[in-house]
Amino acid sequence: MLPRGFTVFTIFVFAIVPHIIQGSGINEQDVQISMRSSPFETALITLQKQIGFTFQKIGLLRRAMTHASFSEENNKALSILGSNIIETSASLRLLGQNIEISAKELSRRISEVSKVESSCAADALRLGLHKVVRVSSKTNSSAPVVVCGAFRAIFGAIALDVGKSDDAGSIFWVVHGGEVGGVMAM
Ligand SMILES: *[C@@H]1O[C@H](CO)[C@@H](O)[C@H](O)[C@H]1NC(C)=O
Repeated sequence: MLPRGFTVFTIFVFAIVPHIIQGSGINEQDVQISMRSSPFETALITLQKQIGFTFQKIGLLRRAMTHASFSEENNKALSILGSNIIETSASLRLLGQNIEISAKELSRRISEVSKVESSCAADALRLGLHKVVRVSSKTNSSAPVVVCGAFRAIFGAIALDVGKSDDAGSIFWVVHGGEVGGVMAM
């Protein structure tokens, strides 16, 4: 005679465990399918076409399009990297054009290119990022600081994806130049 405990355990293993495993497997698949076909994922595909860059690690773009109000996994740090890339790239350009540029003029021109309200948010809205970036229900995705953070984070994400900042800088100038239309533009 087998002990009762063993019998109960055996019934558990053969009758119940497969259902638990199968059940969780199906759920995972459902989640993945719905993630792939969600409006957010579609917007990420469109955004890549607009900026002319295809991510090896799409998770980086997903994170770039996620505001801190939405998730712990957000674009705050990517946005700092992106901001540095934009400023470095602008400095390089301006000094390349005119090595005699004064420090004051250089600073003024850099801020012209990267300023939140006038430049960064305008670039972001033109790309339609306010319709892409994920925010909490209480957060206004069109607020300059929110869209601007997402915009800068794109360049941080590109640099991380490539492992250097050159491509991110080049793509910034194309997007900043206004050659790229809105994600959701009809
Ligand atoms: C969201 O922010 C934009 C830009 O600052 C503003 O024009 C708009 O009125 C705001 N919307 C709401 C609902 O607060």
